[in-house]
Amino acid sequence: MSTIAPGRSAQPSTSKPENGVMRALFKHHAGEGLAFDAARPKPTPGPRDVLIRVRKVGICGTDRHIWEWDQWAAGRIPVGIVTGHEFVGTIEAVGSAVTKYKPGLRVSAEGHITQWADFNSRTGNAHIASDTRIIGIDRDGCFADYVVVPEENVWPVHPKIPDKVAAVLDPLGNAVHTVMAANVSAKSVLISGVGIIGLMAVTVAKAAGASRIFATDINPPRLDLARRLGAVAAYDVRQGDGFINEIKAATRGEGVDVLLEMSGAPSAFDQGFRALRNGGTAAILGIPSKPITWNITEHVVFKGATVLGINGRKMFETWYQMEELLLSERLELDEIITHEFPLEDFKRAFATMMSGEGIKVVMGVGG
Ligand SMILES: NC(=O)c1ccc[n+]([C@@H]2O[C@H](COP(=O)([O-])OP(=O)(O)OC[C@H]3O[C@@H](n4cnc5c(N)ncnc54)[C@H](O)[C@@H]3O)[C@@H](O)[C@H]2O)c1
Ligand SMILES: [Zn+2]
Repeated sequence: MSTIAPGRSAQPSTSKPENGVMRALFKHHAGEGLAFDAARPKPTPGPRDVLIRVRKVGICGTDRHIWEWDQWAAGRIPVGIVTGHEFVGTIEAVGSAVTKYKPGLRVSAEGHITQWADFNSRTGNAHIASDTRIIGIDRDGCFADYVVVPEENVWPVHPKIPDKVAAVLDPLGNAVHTVMAANVSAKSVLISGVGIIGLMAVTVAKAAGASRIFATDINPPRLDLARRLGAVAAYDVRQGDGFINEIKAATRGEGVDVLLEMSGAPSAFDQGFRALRNGGTAAILGIPSKPITWNITEHVVFKGATVLGINGRKMFETWYQMEELLLSERLELDEIITHEFPLEDFKRAFATMMSGEGIKVVMGVGG
């Protein structure tokens, strides 16, 4: 991972969008893949929206589902939509009623949009609003020269945070939300699944003061990276569940204080809770592809476990915590963001991500 990965040195595209039209990656049919449109109409911001000229975007596991057109995507994604929800860009224009921001500001955005009218939005929990619509999923997203978001969703990016990192604040925010919800300071932590978000969680948990971090996965290079980022032990679960006894032996025979589930794999839910001590806390981010069978009596009731469901990022507490952690320079993200391709090279970018060769793959859109 320390060598320059193919595509990494590729420069972002410098071609400028034409007046009135833009380049965009969109879901062109109810099937596999995405298509490139060189002349998609440029969106117009409503009175309370901002128009953002996109500079860099991140490819998320969700974009992979949309590319592959699995059951979830087929049931949720409107054909024709511009995909993508992780980005950094520059405000180009603001709607007539926008008061907080001006053109020229470098920004990212919270991709979950709510009308701020339901119970949760009005009581500090907008990340679980009942009317949430997500950019790149329910409405046009950011794999394009331009994206429109409501003023409320804009996140001004601190000048010390580089574009490459600013493009992936959305998944980094998932990691920060999960780690902070579980309150890891001076605690032993098991992270099950060190993919994009799990690896981010390793460095975030370390920065947030976790005493010892254990990790599991089925991918040896990712387990190696988890060790380099600070995990004291990282186990390949394909070699069996003997690691649970090793973790217990290292934790007074009891198990870890905290489980962060970040794989979505059904077996990881079972193994993770077996490695959690009685009275421990589990924060679950991972999403199994279908309902799973799991022993709630052993894992939660008798164990007296606290189980936290984690959705998105807290608005905007997670974003402030993330900025503080980034400015502390304690997060190591360089080896997690492995590749960069220009937007036009999206087929290679997706292939690099989907083959597992790349971890977080970024695409350069504009200057
Ligand atoms: N709750 C939310 O708001 C939210 C947001 C984003 C992603 N997610 C979910 O979080 C999970 C992680 O997302 P990601 O983008 O990091 O995905 P990812 O695919 O990059 O990471 C998943 C990792 O789990 C590993 N894995 C597979 N089987 C395993 C097993 N049995 N034990 C341990 N590890 C195993 C994979 O090798 C991979 O490295 C996914 O389930 C995703 O759908 C949830
Ligand atoms: Zn995402």
